[in-house]
Amino acid sequence: MPERSGTLADDPFSGRRPTSHERKSGLPWDASYHQGPAPWDIGQPQPAIVRLASEGGFAGAVLDAGCGTGENALHVARLGLSVLGVDVAETALAIAREKAATVGSTIKVEFAMADAFQLERLGRRFETVLDCGLFHTFDGDERPRYAASLASVTEHNGTLYVLCFSDQGPDTGPHPISQEELRAAFNPSNGWNVAAIKPDRIQTRYHDNGAPAWFATIKRI
Ligand SMILES: C[S@@+](CC[C@H](N)C(=O)[O-])C[C@H]1O[C@@H](n2cnc3c(N)ncnc32)[C@H](O)[C@@H]1O
Repeated sequence: MPERSGTLADDPFSGRRPTSHERKSGLPWDASYHQGPAPWDIGQPQPAIVRLASEGGFAGAVLDAGCGTGENALHVARLGLSVLGVDVAETALAIAREKAATVGSTIKVEFAMADAFQLERLGRRFETVLDCGLFHTFDGDERPRYAASLASVTEHNGTLYVLCFSDQGPDTGPHPISQEELRAAFNPSNGWNVAAIKPDRIQTRYHDNGAPAWFATIKRI
């Protein structure tokens, strides 16, 4: 029987609700990866994540939410940790899997299609969760759902790291976030405790020295 139009097979959002970013741009996230590297895809892990890893910031099972082409997840996996990277962009996931295949089975890394708003569907829990450049793509009305979704997969006393564009300084990134917005999104009423928010940088393909960022360390209560 021929498929009806409008079925999941021809839905670029695979049945999920498009995010605010996708509604504004009119394109699914996957399209960002169709014509060469996306602006945030610097072909190496973010320096802030490399530094965090060298300081022993990652422990236990690690989730990378919105992993893109997997540079950060692969970096953490190379340290011997077990990492799951999830994204809604199948093209990015395919690139990430190719990179993982070149490293071989010495590292424990998986890349899976999953919506960051429905992480409970993974049926898994993580001691460390990384959000490198995802939180800042969500509008205020999406953040409570995202914080709840993250909470559903983070072990109690686990750690969430959020690296996002900040609203401080010149040459801010496209989705600048204030410290207050971070504290409003993650607070004891929804199972989170902001332990620290520090100024940092996010490198992009179009900033010479990166864009101002916040590096937030957030504990699951
Ligand atoms: C700015 S990019 C950052 C990618 C990667 N973390 C990095 O540092 O290169 C945001 C990523 O989040 C993904 N993303 C956006 N909305 C998502 C959602 N609801 N669930 C999972 N991934 C999502 C996008 O496809 C994109 O790969």
